[in-house]
Amino acid sequence: MKKRLSAIDVGTTKVCAIMADADEAGVRILGVGVVSSRGLQKGMVVNLNEARESIRKAVSMAEQTAGFKMASAIVNITGRHIHSANNRGVIAISRKDEVVKQADVNRALEVARNTAIPADRRLLHLLPLSYTVDGQEGVKSPVGMHGFKLEVETHMVTASATAVENLSKCIKGAGVEIDEMIFSPLACAEAVISADEMMDGIILADIGGGTTDIAVFKDGKPIHTSVLPVAGYQITHDISVGLGVSWELAEEIKLRYGSVMPVGDEGNDQMLSEGGHSFPQSQVSEIIRSRVEEMVRLALLEVPGEDYQNLLRGGMVLTGGSANLPGLAEMGQEVARLPVRIGAPPAMYGVSERLTDPAFTTSVGLIMWRAKSRTEIPVKPISGSSESGGGFFGLFKRK
Ligand SMILES: Nc1ncnc2c1ncn2[C@@H]1O[C@H](COP(=O)(O)OP(=O)(O)OP(=O)(O)O)[C@@H](O)[C@H]1O
Ligand SMILES: [Mg+2]
Repeated sequence: MKKRLSAIDVGTTKVCAIMADADEAGVRILGVGVVSSRGLQKGMVVNLNEARESIRKAVSMAEQTAGFKMASAIVNITGRHIHSANNRGVIAISRKDEVVKQADVNRALEVARNTAIPADRRLLHLLPLSYTVDGQEGVKSPVGMHGFKLEVETHMVTASATAVENLSKCIKGAGVEIDEMIFSPLACAEAVISADEMMDGIILADIGGGTTDIAVFKDGKPIHTSVLPVAGYQITHDISVGLGVSWELAEEIKLRYGSVMPVGDEGNDQMLSEGGHSFPQSQVSEIIRSRVEEMVRLALLEVPGEDYQNLLRGGMVLTGGSANLPGLAEMGQEVARLPVRIGAPPAMYGVSERLTDPAFTTSVGLIMWRAKSRTEIPVKPISGSSESGGGFFGLFKRK
């Protein structure tokens, strides 16, 4: 049976809409639409009309290729307003036969979920990490086990209700219903991290334009997720300040000459010219290098516990548009003293050529998340009304 799937990746730099179908044989991409985003800052909607129009344009581009309408989609959300924490839920098994049933598991999850969600926040994810039955820890699936007391440890992700509502308004205003709203790094991980790596322990950092989205996995589960408000825009800003050029020119310089490889040691430095300005390659690389080094260190500070090297046997994966910087994996490895690789979406069937860039990892990850059946309790984001008004389309960034 073919299942239609659609995703909208709402980023600070670009909006990417994907339409696909999936059956036992796998996922086939039927339509892709990418436009520069407007109305977003650090992952959050700051202008409803502009954001909605960017989304509408990306969706309509995807629809034109696919040849049918996008009725509903899985959507990502990110930003500093998102909080995650690991919570416990404990219940007594009071049935006569003292065997754990699915209903008990659901009840334990409900207890974990009821712990701490203030009215101005929305639950995005409640992911079971492990179960304890009568003190026996590390139980993977407790259903059918004998016991009196069931505990569940969960990874819970909540978002500001306002941010969820604003994003929902934009999506619905663009004529699309929301199937699910997923915290970006969890979707991103679907496209680039294997089940084995998640078992071994691994950190993912999706370095986009406005945010760096982090997820840490251990024993097959996400044990920590967070958002850092530093990414590609800061790199561009640093170049702009360091070279005394406009932000736009700095972005062009970054895309054309940007690298984190050390230059100049062996006299191989060269003078570059762009937009009437001349500067040595080593200066550009140094500016980018110090900012990116800081980002890698900040990402590692997110890892729970003292000994990240022991926890992260699988190393580190870097994705997002900024992961295109030449020399990044090598530099990351030096800084983190861990195996570091650049992650990009796998090649897919259909019209997916441009999706293999690291910038589209979250976009493709959303489709892969939807294609897989999940065991978590799905939480529908609240709906908002559509708004009317004009919009403004930008062009996608030069490559
Ligand atoms: N070749 C490249 N070298 C360096 N930086 C690049 C390159 N290509 C893209 N970038 C940068 O990647 C960033 C955009 O990445 P991405 O498309 O992943 O962001 P986004 O998903 O729109 O934003 P976010 O996830 O932060 O909300 C921009 O800052 C852009 O300058
Ligand atoms: Mg992104």
